[in-house]
Amino acid sequence: MIKVFTTVLLSFLFFSCNNDSSGIKKLQSRIDSLEQKVNNSYKPGFGEFMSAIQVHHAKLWFAGINENWDLADFEIHEIMENIDDIKKYETDRSESNSISMIEPALDTVNAAIRKKDIARFKNSFVLLTNSCNTCHQDVNYSFNDVKIPDSPPFSNQVFKKKEK
Ligand code: HEC
Repeated sequence: MIKVFTTVLLSFLFFSCNNDSSGIKKLQSRIDSLEQKVNNSYKPGFGEFMSAIQVHHAKLWFAGINENWDLADFEIHEIMENIDDIKKYETDRSESNSISMIEPALDTVNAAIRKKDIARFKNSFVLLTNSCNTCHQDVNYSFNDVKIPDSPPFSNQVFKKKEK
């Protein structure tokens, strides 16, 4: 009787162990395939964030010098969002360690916009542009030289404030 019982118990244990390991194997293969999907999913590159920042940097200038403060406020926040996204999505790029150096300059421009002060806006925009280049120099991309734009980046957007 004990022999039969032991055999049943052993085979039960064997079976459940076997079941367990096949369950774990299934789970592991699902994790592997999900991992592969995550690795292959689209992630914008550092340069794409920078190209977006470039556009907002130019639009910000024309919004500011036209004293279109609502648009300037929008554009500075677009730059801030892109900076936050670099921190979030570009963790594998060593350059991301330097990205926060732009924040004091962004805060200065933001303060000028809130004060609707065009002289402060112009000065802080120079500081912002210099900070862009300081970072480019620090991370060995000094050939990406940013400057204050001469003309609006797009002809299909109005930078002057709308008359209400
Ligand atoms: C980490 C510090 C850092 C800061 C701050 C920074 N950049 Fe960059 N920028 C980079 C790096 C790194 C690249 C190269 C990205 C790549 O790998 O394509 C780059 C590339 C660029 C490019 C070239 C994009 C292209 O593909 O042609 C432009 C334009 C640019 N940045 C504009 C700006 C502007 C404008 C600012 C400031 C508002 C700024 N950057 C602030 C690091 C920085």
